Order: sequence, then C-alpha cells, then structure tokens
Amino acid sequence: MTLPWIEIKVVFLLGIALLSYRVEGARRGLVGADATVFDVTTYGAKPDGKTNNAMMFIRAWNAACQSTGPAKLVIPPGNFMAGEVFFHGPCKCSDPITVEVLGTVLGHTDLSEYTSGLWIGFNKIDGLVVTGTGTFNGQGEASWKFNDRTHKTLLPISLKFQFVQNALVEKINLVNSKGFHMTVTSCNNFKLEGLDITAPGNSPNTDGIHISRSDLVNVTNSVIGTGDDCISMGEGNSNIRVSGITCGPGHGISVGSLGHPLDKDVKGIRVTNCTLKGTTNGARIKTLEKSNQMKASNIIFEDITMTDVKNPIIIDQHYNSKNKQGSSKVKISDIHFRNIRGSSISDVAVSLDCSNANPCEGVELVDIDLTYSGTCSCSLSAACSNAKAIFTGKQSPVACA
Ligand SMILES: *[C@@H]1O[C@H](CO)[C@@H](O)[C@H](O)[C@H]1NC(C)=O
Ligand SMILES: *[C@@H]1O[C@H](CO)[C@@H](O)[C@H](O)[C@H]1NC(C)=O
Repeated sequence: MTLPWIEIKVVFLLGIALLSYRVEGARRGLVGADATVFDVTTYGAKPDGKTNNAMMFIRAWNAACQSTGPAKLVIPPGNFMAGEVFFHGPCKCSDPITVEVLGTVLGHTDLSEYTSGLWIGFNKIDGLVVTGTGTFNGQGEASWKFNDRTHKTLLPISLKFQFVQNALVEKINLVNSKGFHMTVTSCNNFKLEGLDITAPGNSPNTDGIHISRSDLVNVTNSVIGTGDDCISMGEGNSNIRVSGITCGPGHGISVGSLGHPLDKDVKGIRVTNCTLKGTTNGARIKTLEKSNQMKASNIIFEDITMTDVKNPIIIDQHYNSKNKQGSSKVKISDIHFRNIRGSSISDVAVSLDCSNANPCEGVELVDIDLTYSGTCSCSLSAACSNAKAIFTGKQSPVACA
C-alpha cells in the first residue's frame, strides 16, 4: 500500500528538480552557458589562417539565430581568416544570442573583399552577448597606406554594431583594424566591458570605439591604444557613460566631431575615472567650423589622470579648419571638467576655443591640477575665447578670462 506514495514523492521531487533546472538555465542563459552550441568548424570553417571562412561564419550564425532555444555561436581556438561577415537579426529565441570567441579571427588582406565598409557587422539584434578571450585582428597594416582623407575612403570597420539593443560586449581583444576598431550606431542599452584594443600610434583613423546615435551605452574597464581617438562619441548620443579606461597612444577621449549635415543633438555624456598617457588630446569636444545647427549639452569629464598629454582639456570649435575664422553653429552648454590632474607636454594645457556666434555656456572647471612636462622653458597657460567659463577650486594653469 505504500508504493503509490513513493511514486508521488518521486514525481514531486523530479518536478522540483526540473523546475530548478529551468530557473537556473534561464539565469545562465544570459551568458549562454547551457545554450545549444553552433561551432563554426561544424559549418566548415578551417583554422588554417588562410581559408576565407566568411560564408561558414554566416551559416553558423544563421543557424544559431534561427534556433528557438538559447544559442551560442562558438569560434574555437585557432586562426580563422574571414572576409566580410554579416550577422543579421532579428533572431528567433527571446534569450540573448551569444557569440563566444576563443580563437583569433584574421581579416582578409585584400581590400576588394570588402564592399560595405565593414569587416564584421552585427545588425538588428535584440539581446546579444559577445564574449571570450579571443582576438579580432584586422590585419590593417597593409591597407593603412590607402587611408585617404581627401577622397573620404573609409577603410572597413572591424566590428560594426547597428540597431543592436540589450547587448554586452566583453573581454575580447581587437588588434590592427583597417579603419575604426569598433562602431556602435543606433544602439541602445549597450554595455562594453574589459576590452583590449591595440594598434600602432601612427596608424591612421584607427579609432578604438566610436559611438553615435545611441542611448544608454556604458564603456568600462578597458585598455585602448590606437592611432586615433581611443573613444569618440559622435552625434545623436544620449546617456553615454565611459569609465575605467586606460587610453594611449592615440588622440584621447573625444566628443565629436559634431556639426556635419543631419547631425542630431548630443545630450548626457559622462567620462569618469580614466587614465590617459602620451595622447595628443585628453578630454576633448570638437565641432566643425562650417557646421550644421545643433546642440551638445550636459557633458562631464571627471576624475581623469593624464601623463604627458598634449592638449589635456580642449574645446575646439574650429576643428579641421585652416584659418580658424568661421563660426560654428554647434551650441555647447553645461560642460564640466572636474578633478583633472597630471602633466601636459604643451604649454597651453587648457584651451576653450568656442564659437563667436554661439559662445559656450555653463562651462565649469573644478580642481584642475596640471604641471608642464614639455621641453621648452615655458610655463603652463590656459586660453579661452567665447567660453564664459567658471573656475572653482585649484586651477593650474591659472584660469583664463
Ligand atoms: C550603465 O551604468 C549605469 C550606472 O552604473 C547603470 O545604471 C546602467 O544600468 C548601465 N547600463 C548598461 C547598459 O550597462
Ligand atoms: C577606476 O578604473 C580602474 C581601471 O582603470 C578600475 O580598476 C577601478 O576599479 C575604477 N575605480 C572606480 C572607483 O570605478
């Protein structure tokens, strides 16, 4: 007579076990730990460093993206060469799709392989995790000589995220991109963490991360050294947070350039706890002189350490202009530089060069502690024009009028 009770108990315990397995599964699903694995080698990819694996990557992605359960695309250890790759959504599963990179992905050295200005594009995806300790090596060395500002030839961006939301990109390494290393455009709720981005200081236009038209983007705890801006934040951005970045070599951390045709306003950028070494600029806001009408407001640079930086604090509303005579139509307001310390290799450590038609408003400098580390017998100075800045706390260089 006790048998049915045992059965009920067993069924009950099994039920509990199954339920807790599911809950745990959903929790781990965020990082794809128990997801179905789609290994690129299963789709024919070869880690021989010379086969063009672009199609195999795309096939593996499409299979993962069509999966109705949690899915993980895996690029295992090895050298996988690939030309232009498109990872398109939307994907079927409501859990984030994971891309785990363990190996090294090598760019194609033949520029004619790239027709869309990008190497690897992530497009229209809601819920994405890119993780792993692997590397995207753009092999840009051979193509940098084709970088041509006058012809506006843009070399392929290594990783391009567009219309991606609820995303985490972490731990990966990017090396020697042809163009920018990474762009985040028209994205929201996007987190970038623990990235390592490296290219030579003289490689042209190899920005680390460029963010535009995006809302709620955090970039944290990353090391970036390239031939252009470590992080550049372009038009249409709101609620961007950058913190814990080690930057250099490169052109620093910039907002802009702004004022191109069709550019949208920028509102809410906060750069904190960053270290810059040997960069040409530190905390920079740049706008075109011949520009579209727009606004940039509520921008904060706080707790920044600089070593041997050329232009530690700079607002440049004559960006890329030869005679510096025109008047930018970009209105800059509510700007804060707080607790910026370290050394400047140029004598003008603070340069607030605002538009005479649209003077800056609400620019505040608090506790600026910079010393001169250049080679002349100069003393440090600050230069302001049309800036209306307010200075409080320590000011080295001495505040300008
Ligand atoms: C960004 O950081 C802020 C403050 O720490 C946090 O509230 C927000 O959830 C973060 N957003 C993302 C997408 O990581
Ligand atoms: C500041 O950034 C460093 C990395 O550069 C990080 O280790 C540290 O935790 C950050 N501190 C705060 C208070 O966020």
